[in-house]
Amino acid sequence: MTPKQVQLVETSFKAFVPVAYKTTEEFYDTLFKSSPHLRGMFPEDMREQRVKLIDTLTYAVNGLRYPETLLPVVHDLGKRHKGYKVKPEHYSAVGMALITALERALGPRFTREVKEAWQACVTLIAKEMMGAQAA
Ligand code: HEM
Repeated sequence: MTPKQVQLVETSFKAFVPVAYKTTEEFYDTLFKSSPHLRGMFPEDMREQRVKLIDTLTYAVNGLRYPETLLPVVHDLGKRHKGYKVKPEHYSAVGMALITALERALGPRFTREVKEAWQACVTLIAKEMMGAQAA
């Protein structure tokens, strides 16, 4: 990610925070509509999962300036995902659902530049997680 993209993700995330919990509902709705076969991998009650996702996204966004600290944590998250039976091919559906949910949450503030910055962020995280799963 370029320094400018890091800045765009940080700034747009501030607007996302007040609607974060609602947005995670839209995120999982979008994901399970596009990929119904993934629903069974998650618990029936998604409330805790939604909070965990927000915590991790917050950690990741705050850590983008410190990749040497962030990436090992993301790597461990990837290792745990191996235990959840997640496959590399699942990441594109999750990434797309996340971008769609952010787009809805941020509305006109989700400009093309902001979208590209988030895409770069999701790619960075997904690559590190997939690398950990392949190891
Ligand atoms: C952008 C990448 C992702 C992030 C940031 C992320 C984040 C998280 C977090 C924070 C947890 C909570 C448990 C833990 O910390 O180990 C979790 C659990 C889980 N994630 Fe992900 N995840 C990602 C990608 C995926 C993908 C691609 C799948 C595939 C469907 C997936 C499926 C799951 C499942 C099944 C659980 C366990 C749910 C449970 O049994 O409680 N995740 N994820």
